[in-house]
Order: sequence, then structure tokens, then C-alpha cells
Amino acid sequence: MVQRRTQVAIVGAGPAGLLLGALLARHDVDAVIVEQRSAEYVLGRIRAGVLEQTTVDLLREAGVADRCLKEGLTHDGIELSFDGALHRIDFRALTGKHVTVYGQTEVTHDLMQLRAGANLITDYEAEDVQIEGFDGEHPMVRYVKNGVVQELACDFVAGCDGYHGICRASIPRDAVSIYEKVYPFGWLGVLADVPPVRHELIYANHERGFALCSQRSKTRSRYYVQCSLDDQVDQWSDEAFWDELRRRLPAEIAQAVTTGPSIEKSIAPLRSFVAEPMRFGRLFLAGDAAHIVPPTGAKGLNLAATDVGYLAQGLAEHYLGRSRAGLDQYSARCLSRVWKAERFSWWFTSLMHRFPDAGAFGSRLQQAELSYLVGSRSASSALAENYVGLPI
Ligand code: APR
Ligand code: PHB
Repeated sequence: MVQRRTQVAIVGAGPAGLLLGALLARHDVDAVIVEQRSAEYVLGRIRAGVLEQTTVDLLREAGVADRCLKEGLTHDGIELSFDGALHRIDFRALTGKHVTVYGQTEVTHDLMQLRAGANLITDYEAEDVQIEGFDGEHPMVRYVKNGVVQELACDFVAGCDGYHGICRASIPRDAVSIYEKVYPFGWLGVLADVPPVRHELIYANHERGFALCSQRSKTRSRYYVQCSLDDQVDQWSDEAFWDELRRRLPAEIAQAVTTGPSIEKSIAPLRSFVAEPMRFGRLFLAGDAAHIVPPTGAKGLNLAATDVGYLAQGLAEHYLGRSRAGLDQYSARCLSRVWKAERFSWWFTSLMHRFPDAGAFGSRLQQAELSYLVGSRSASSALAENYVGLPI
């Protein structure tokens, strides 16, 4: 048995856990990260990559924004596609703001490198991770590493272990309120080393279903099509994917799509999920451990970042003996932002996807809302404002 002590034990080395660790290090707050998977596995996961300015600012505050600022792509707008035509939503003109396209994998890589470079402790491949005592004064994270039981005593536990993690599951069931909506379709995503069809993202509403043209760089593209939840990845050859994608895009865009072999192909279900509160005694949930948004609004990573921004601030104030207000207000502050992002992500998903039981009336309503949206400055501003990120 190995016994150690730290100030903050962080469970999970996804973007939430790693960014929290980096921000706490800037405030000289000691933290150890415990991750069940290997670093290679964590890095290998393909996720989204649209960063709000607030997220880039947090990366800068954590001292890990250099590569993002150098290699990230500044996008001043998106394009909506419906009825065979493109309609641009000009973020810069409507909000004065932009977003940065920079893969979550790259963010995770930069955060891991920063942590290793500063000799900060991350225990990967931790087995049988359990948390206890967080409803009292002496929280503990217990796990097995290389067959040896580890006991990590701490003041606080940060549950950054995602939707399927053990932290939320360790809170008494009656102490958590769950709000959930599961969508009757999924996203089939393909990553390919081909130049993006457009310099900005295209969100397409089409009678055959939603499609998204996204990118990671000028030579690597990410595309998605709405698919049935019964679909299996191996049912979809690359050729079938490219054909279906092109059917859902305006003719001139479809012709311009450069196709190529997929380097990653996967199906993701769509879910809206919120667990309240996000604090239970000395346990603080952050990121996917507390909330999930459908990817349509590109809010997942950005919400995780602002959660840990609030948490790092609260913990720093606590350890500097300034105040406990940040910790006591943490859950309410996060949830007010989370629910706005949940609303936007649900609204944008409802507008851009084909719902099996919506019928002809439902799709007519979508068309009417889309033409109203692109014809109204206030409606376009609302979309732009939510997409680039509401002020924190
Ligand atoms: N013990 C230790 N680590 C765990 C455990 C456990 N029992 N369960 C899960 N983990 C780890 C996972 O292996 C993963 O590396 O916690 C990490 C959680 O990371 P994410 O799921 O990426 O969640 P988060 O850091 O909150 O990032 C949210 O990721 O899924 C995207 O769209 C989402 O962009 C958002 C971002
Ligand atoms: C992505 O690039 O993977 C991506 C971009 C925008 C979204 C979702 C995913 O809304």
C-alpha cells in the first residue's frame, strides 16, 4: 500500500481534468490526476474541435495556448445549407467575435506535454478507482497501480471522469437530479486527410438528414452525416459515406468535396444530459461527468473548460485564504451556463436534423424557421452569440 497526500485529487485526464491540473499549477495548488486509461488511449480519442474565445483565454491562462494560437484556424462564421443553397452566418459582423478550429486531440496533447514538462503527477492506467469520504472532511481516492493499492488523501476531489465515470456514480442517488433527452439518431463521422471543401463549417439541413462539413487543418477534414441508431460502422463503406454526404449538400459544394480513405470512422449517439448539483460536499463534478450536449452546437469541450475555469478560481481563492464563495457558488455558476448551452444545442439540433416522427408539417416548420433565421439580423445574432460563446 502506498499512501500519499495532495490538495486536489483529479479523477480523469480528459480535457477537463488536464486543464484543471494546469490552471491549479499556475496558482501553486498541488494536484494529482488519476486516469484509468493509458496516455496513448486518451490521446487517440477523436473528438470535436471548435473553441470559443473563453476557452482559448483559459488555455492562455494555463500557459498552453502557443500551438493553438499558431496552428488554430480562426473562423469568423459558419454556413447553413438548406433548399440547395448556402447562407452564411457572419459571427464577426454580428458579434465582433470568432471561434478557433483546433482539435480536442491537440488540446489534450498540449496539456499532457505541459504536465509532463512540469513533472506534475498523472497516474495513468489506474485500476479500480474509488472515491470516498468526500461528504466528510477527509476525502480519499483509492486505486490499484501495477498491482499495488494506492491511497491518495486530499482536501477536495474533482470528478473529471466523464459521463461513464465513477465520481457522479458515487454520489447518493437521491442527492442528484438527472435531466436527460436522447435523440432518435446518431452521427456517423469520418476523418480523412483531404482538404476541407470550404474554409468555414457547413451545417446542412436536408430531407435525407443532417450533414456537417468540418475540419482539423487545411489538409485534414472531418465530416458527419445523421444516421440511424441501428446503423453499424461496418455497414458504411467510405464510398457509401461520401455518396450520402454529397447527396445532402448543394450541387456545387457536392462537386467540390475531395474524397479519400477514412483514417477514423465512428458513430456517436446524441444526448442532452445534466446532473444537478455539480458539487457534493468536497466532490466537484466538471465536464462530461456532469453534463452532455449534442455535438451540433460544439459546446462540449467549451463547457468543460469553463467549468474547470470556475473551479480553479474557487480553489485558488480557498487556498489563498481569501474566500470560499467561489467554491460555494461553483455549482450554480456552472449550471446557469450549462443550461444555456443545453438550450442552444437542443435548439440547433432540432432545427438541423430530420426527426423520424416530425412528418411533413415538422419539416415545413424547419424550413420556415431556417428562412426566417437567415433573413433576420436578430435571429442570426442569437445563433452567432450562442455559437461563439456567451460571456462568462
Ligand atoms: N477512473 C479514472 N479515470 C476515469 C474513470 C475512472 N473510473 N472513468 C473515466 N475516466 C477517464 C476517462 O478515461 C477519460 O480519459 O476520465 C476521462 C474523462 O474525459 P472525457 O470523457 O473527455 O470528459 P471531459 O474531460 O469532461 O471532456 C469533455 O470531451 O467528450 C468530449 O464532447 C466532450 O468535448 C467534451 C469533452
Ligand atoms: C468537429 O469538427 O468534429 C465538429 C465541429 C462542430 C460541431 C461538431 C463537431 O458542431
